[in-house]
Amino acid sequence: MERTTEKQLGKEEFLNFFRKIPKAEIHLHLEAVISRDTVRRFIRRRNPEFDDERAEQEIGRIFTYSDLNGFIKAYLAVQDLYDSPADFNDVFRDLRDYLVRNGIKYAEIFAAPSAFIKKGWDFSEIVSVYMKNVIKIETETGIKVRILIDVSRTFGFENAEKNLQLLLANMTPVIIGIGLGGSETNGPARLFGSVFEKARSRGLVTVAHAGEDVGPESVWDTINILRAARIGHGISSAGDEKLIDELVRRNIPLEVCPTSNVFTRKFVSTMKEHPIRKFFDRGITVTLNSDDPLFFGVELLDEYWNAYAEIGFSLAELRKIAENSFRASFIGDDEKAKFIDAVGKAWDGNPATAR
Ligand code: ADE
Ligand code: ZN
Repeated sequence: MERTTEKQLGKEEFLNFFRKIPKAEIHLHLEAVISRDTVRRFIRRRNPEFDDERAEQEIGRIFTYSDLNGFIKAYLAVQDLYDSPADFNDVFRDLRDYLVRNGIKYAEIFAAPSAFIKKGWDFSEIVSVYMKNVIKIETETGIKVRILIDVSRTFGFENAEKNLQLLLANMTPVIIGIGLGGSETNGPARLFGSVFEKARSRGLVTVAHAGEDVGPESVWDTINILRAARIGHGISSAGDEKLIDELVRRNIPLEVCPTSNVFTRKFVSTMKEHPIRKFFDRGITVTLNSDDPLFFGVELLDEYWNAYAEIGFSLAELRKIAENSFRASFIGDDEKAKFIDAVGKAWDGNPATAR
């Protein structure tokens, strides 16, 4: 669809329109969808002498970073504010509000238990809080959520292996697989091959962040050694034409998170130069995601707006990206077809597309 023949929508009209388009989000970190209010409350609980202003200063101190490893330190600092597994009830409430606000009908979210296990929390208790809340969200809103446990590359192979063992001992239908997040520079993909192999042998799906902070070699290792079904980010693939061909040939979707990449600054410094355009044009199944809403100040609808207003995707192309979000997900084919059909119905019934 040519952008030049299309009436340009204003921001409000665009957001109102896309809110009504059913979307999946498949790269979203649970502990990063926590609201600022919840973080402030956790800080004040830990520091009863703080007023709101002092708590806000503390938030400002934590949320100061300029690269991925700095961000990961901040992430761990926020996880450190939790006092017990019951705190996840608040975080899931924030997740529910986020999903509703953004018109998301299905989400695959990462939950990263390493920091909590290190505090001595019981993994089975954590899992039962996750499960209870996923069911609650679906009952209250009809939105389906599934969890991928981020076994983490930050703390080495043994920690990742231990996380998998804990998961295998606490299987539940709401947890469908594992992911690999954390410090890509300190935890190369190739270390985790056996963890991924074992997870798949037990029926779990496997995905991994790659090419976010390390060059295309990290993506190659992730598709060839980890054999991940999807790549989180994958942006360094832009510099390797053979790798792009391989992602197309093997139909490996990319979970693209543009604002996150601009924030961590490794391969892109402005939205306009983001390689999502190149990936889309070359035929990769690209999806749009927010990654870490509170940390990067962005929600899924904002990313659709950025793709439209800054990167230059047309409405028809964004419709395809919304459909891709279901195509690239781990739901069954029938369910995918229903969601994609629902995208079409919402599209046709919307005045913004009638011109
Ligand atoms: N954990 C949370 N967000 C992450 C990201 N963007 N990369 C790696 N690990 C993460
Ligand atoms: Zn991520």
